Amino acid sequence: MSAHIRAIRLVNFRNYAGATALLSPGLNVLVGENAQGKTNLLEALAFVVSGSSPRTPNDSEVVRWGEGFVRVEARVVDGGHERRLAVGYAPGSRKRLTVDGAPVESLARYAAGVAGVRAVTFFPDDLRVVKGSPSDRRSFLDALLSSLRPAYARAAAEYARAVQQRNQLLRRIRDGLSSERTLATWDRKVVELGLVLLEGRAAAAAPLDEHFRASMRALYGPQKAAVGYSYSATPERYAQALREAHSADIERGITSVGPHRDDLRILLEGVDLTTYGSQGQQRLATLALKFAARDYIRDATGQDPVLLFDDVMSELDERRRDYLAGCFLESTQAVISTTNLRYFEPGALRRARVLGISGGSISQTTKSGVDNGG
Ligand SMILES: Nc1ncnc2c1ncn2[C@@H]1O[C@H](COP(=O)(O)OP(=O)(O)O)[C@@H](O)[C@H]1O
Ligand SMILES: [Mg+2]
Repeated sequence: MSAHIRAIRLVNFRNYAGATALLSPGLNVLVGENAQGKTNLLEALAFVVSGSSPRTPNDSEVVRWGEGFVRVEARVVDGGHERRLAVGYAPGSRKRLTVDGAPVESLARYAAGVAGVRAVTFFPDDLRVVKGSPSDRRSFLDALLSSLRPAYARAAAEYARAVQQRNQLLRRIRDGLSSERTLATWDRKVVELGLVLLEGRAAAAAPLDEHFRASMRALYGPQKAAVGYSYSATPERYAQALREAHSADIERGITSVGPHRDDLRILLEGVDLTTYGSQGQQRLATLALKFAARDYIRDATGQDPVLLFDDVMSELDERRRDYLAGCFLESTQAVISTTNLRYFEPGALRRARVLGISGGSISQTTKSGVDNGG
């Protein structure tokens, strides 16, 4: 059986001064009014599982206002085995990640499941994966692949730096401060790192497409959906394309080909949802991409990631809500926030653990002692 989170403790995490929650395998529902801390609790779960927040690159944002540090701990059960994870951060010093008290030095390694558990998150902002810019879609892919391979995460970070340095060099060549011959060295470095990204993404493209189609069929309808990787240059042509772009790149001072220029195309009946999708189609496609990520992780690791989905029920019709509730109940573990328990049918709630969230505190309800949210 895949790992699940059994307990979480938050200290100075956003609006939580100190709080503890016990979680169950299967469906967990966080219920509360707006601005009470539901989203923050889901973020804290992702923070302790992956070592950083999926909502912000800036760790100090999650530190409770007026406090000097944040700490989130979790107990993860994997088979009969229990592990203690902890992430602590004080602005100005290095983030501390530990598993059973032993430090994990590399964030990339921690994020790639060294703690034995991975998460797939859905926050309302994630709509931008479908609706936003190519960089939003690349980040989705990079986060997914990084959650499986620390080498991918490292290559992605180094590639971004290498492209920046190449761009600086391009401008110096343009301004007559460097010679064009120095470009070849940077090209080699950029291609070597870029190929790690291209190959990782290319290998993921077909399975993601397949999983996305299946999820869209279940969530949206029988219309043909597809997600496809769109290259600025294929791996085979990459080095040559970079060379051919030299004079244009020097003129513009930017690197015009490579994985940092690529995109994912998300289609429904051949229509690009990024440009032409309705809000509802974009939302369902985002959800379907998240389920595709779940299935991809499951194929790659044999383990089900934990689903942390924020407020997914509110904008769906009843058929889709019931379908989703069924998916969550069958998941190894899903933690789902809502303002209204009525979005879940009574039968689903009876099998779920329901946690009340109010003003940065968490109240436990027993697994079956829940009424229907009257
Ligand atoms: N770093 C922080 N320190 C203290 N409070 C914060 C911090 N970040 C956000 N908040 C507060 O958390 C509350 C929102 O919590 P959130 O989890 O988004 O609520 P919801 O239950 O609607 O999902 C807001 O009142 C916001 O001001
Ligand atoms: Mg919220």
